[in-house]
Amino acid sequence: MRVVSGIQPTGDLHLGNLLGAILRWVRMQDEAECLFFLADLHALTVDVDPAILRGNVREMAAALIASGIDPAKSTLFAQSAVPAHPELAWILQGTARMGWLNRMTQWKDKAGKNREGASVGLFTYPVLQAADVLVYKATHVPVGEDQKQHIELARDIAVKFNNDFDVELFVAPEPYIGGGTAARVMSLRDGASKMSKSDPSEASRIHLTDSDDVIAQKLRKAKTDPEPLPDDPELLAGRPEARNLVGIMAAVTGESPAAVLQRFSGQGFGAFKPALADATIALLAPLRERLIELRNDPAMLDGILAAGAEKAVELAAPTLHEAYRAVGLRS
Ligand code: TYM
Repeated sequence: MRVVSGIQPTGDLHLGNLLGAILRWVRMQDEAECLFFLADLHALTVDVDPAILRGNVREMAAALIASGIDPAKSTLFAQSAVPAHPELAWILQGTARMGWLNRMTQWKDKAGKNREGASVGLFTYPVLQAADVLVYKATHVPVGEDQKQHIELARDIAVKFNNDFDVELFVAPEPYIGGGTAARVMSLRDGASKMSKSDPSEASRIHLTDSDDVIAQKLRKAKTDPEPLPDDPELLAGRPEARNLVGIMAAVTGESPAAVLQRFSGQGFGAFKPALADATIALLAPLRERLIELRNDPAMLDGILAAGAEKAVELAAPTLHEAYRAVGLRS
């Protein structure tokens, strides 16, 4: 079992990232060989400010370590420090089909109506993502629900490449998605859209860097409905905001939604929201404190990323070489 996953170093880490991916990465560290990276090349597919991107890579590395990624157990690195990723991505661009990429919902959402004006990188983004995992022969890729389609594409690319060149080089990776709401944490302002870095409303998401007061305030203002909470999760159908908040409570406390409802059945959100704020703060505050400390030591963070990159370069080299050989280049 080899686990590989990445996160774009754009914006601050939010509760969706944490519950959907990062805290699950942390748990996998003791069970498998793990590689985690900052997808800084993916960040180039939209407009970037170079000064901000540079700082964000370090900040996101600090946020991952503060959340429990342990560089002694996992290989942590920046994608751009391992040229095998974009090199393999180029080879795989001969395998991926336009039609496959055209079906990607993230491409459709992000390009919107302005396809002619979207960067080429935004379109071929999932091919680089496929290279990210195939280059290490990852078996499991822990991600939130929104990335499932990209990992399935990586499987298709792996299978087609192996078939086309009659090799058994690539391993088709499994998207490894958490259960319950954690797989898709929704916006606090709209239960129909996911919590996202790109939502213009700060109130739609909780950041790892938010103070206790800000967390409590965002949850107090979270959109809800006037009905009391039921005693059965099935009865939350048709109440997306209520379902999301109950799901967040379950994910931050480690309970099931049914257990959460047992505690709050018959009560309104006036009682539920302060309890949810307390539980969320109990989870996030210690991580935030660690993040603040880690920021004081940029040299240490750079050292961790450099050591991680050195290891990743070594692990990626044989697969890249085999891929070149398979297509008739290098010997
Ligand atoms: P990114 O940076 O958008 O998100 C990082 C991880 O957080 C998960 N996530 C969520 N999970 C639950 N609810 C949400 N509201 C939510 N928002 C984000 C994402 O599913 C992801 O697991 N393309 C990827 C980065 C990437 C990658 C890879 C991932 C590049 N190469 C290779 C896996 C393997 C992305 O933009 O994730």
